[in-house]
Amino acid sequence: MRRPRFQSRPLFRSYAKSLKPLEIKSFLLKMSRKDIILDYSQLRIACFHFLSHALPTGSTIATSCYTIFDMVNVIINAGHKPFFVDIEKENLGPNIPQLIELVRTEKVQAVIYTHLHGYKADLSCLASCCKEKNCLLIEDCAQSLWNKNWDKIDYVPGSFGTAAIYSTGFFKGINTICGGFLTFNKDFHFSETIINSHRTLKRKFSYDFIYRSVYAILFKIVTTDLFFNFILFPVLKISWSRNFVWMNKRAREENNPRYIHREKNDILRMNLLQKFLLVFQSKNSLDQDYLVKLNLSNIYFSELKDLIKNKIINIPGIHEKDGRLTLEGISSLNQIPMLVSNRKELLDYLIFEGFDIAAQHIRNLSQTPPYNKYQKINDIVAEDVVKKIILLPCYPSFSAKNVYDLSKKIKSFYI
Ligand SMILES: Cc1ncc(COP(=O)(O)O)c(C=O)c1O
Repeated sequence: MRRPRFQSRPLFRSYAKSLKPLEIKSFLLKMSRKDIILDYSQLRIACFHFLSHALPTGSTIATSCYTIFDMVNVIINAGHKPFFVDIEKENLGPNIPQLIELVRTEKVQAVIYTHLHGYKADLSCLASCCKEKNCLLIEDCAQSLWNKNWDKIDYVPGSFGTAAIYSTGFFKGINTICGGFLTFNKDFHFSETIINSHRTLKRKFSYDFIYRSVYAILFKIVTTDLFFNFILFPVLKISWSRNFVWMNKRAREENNPRYIHREKNDILRMNLLQKFLLVFQSKNSLDQDYLVKLNLSNIYFSELKDLIKNKIINIPGIHEKDGRLTLEGISSLNQIPMLVSNRKELLDYLIFEGFDIAAQHIRNLSQTPPYNKYQKINDIVAEDVVKKIILLPCYPSFSAKNVYDLSKKIKSFYI
């Protein structure tokens, strides 16, 4: 059986044998090296709350031009202005020298650093420049949740910034349908205001939460093996070959960037169901997932090594270790981005052959309305990446056989 290109992690982890409501919170505090953790209805809401209180209105915030569009909306919602920087080829995160230059010249009062696709970057230079210039550094760890023991390098995303934000969305390592956390240190001038304001927030079951819960149930049903192989994928295949744009856009909200207005009363805490679901998530299950993903990635890289070495396909950050290609220590392997110049032809071929695979859907926001009116520094790398990127599926329940089959097909396309 073929498996879909992405799948959510279980809401109820079998390993969570005892109820440990504080386990995830203390894990995130430890990884981010902070002492305060606050819960929210979503990561983006956590960011909205933080930006509303930690900065004077009208501040300028540097951010990646290659990120989730709603993360730019929350900058605007909080009364600030985004300033886009390009991304780096090795990890697709925002360009650190460009960020340092903006901070050094005091053009921005805060930086949101997005760790994307599971990659991690050393932000020590950026963090010390921010400290010197009194500039806030917020690390978006939605796609890059790390445990220190996954490699020997003693830093993880979230540990450099003034604040770190984490998502517990439906497709994240910690799954509570949706949800998020904000961590920071209590000795900042804004800390007390944020903590006090957080105490007054509601824990309600919003329309958005109900919508996401219904979507989650439907998603689980349509991605079961039988439904996916015999109903959903055949429909998707036809829609791809006939170019049914509305169908190809399904469930990929990044294809429709738009401004979403939010008021202060849209800032909510986790509701009771989200808090209940958190109890069934555990850091052990994150470790187990990581080991499975590492094995899948090793299969991809050994099968595709000739194409990688001959630069026919490019995997950002890939390097040789003990004679084999790996992303160990570079990525937590949330997804494996692959850059190819003939993306459309490759996707046509793979989908025709029965694989559910797609172009990555994040846009270059500095070129995309309504965000193209804001300040930016050149976006050469992002422009190139958005035309070439495909995500190789690498979630824990994707089977090794699926990885072998997909790699074989990719090879047969090029040979
Ligand atoms: C990089 C990144 N930042 C922010 C978010 C937003 O997280 P949430 O859906 O919890 O608001 C996401 C969600 O997928 C993400 O991938």
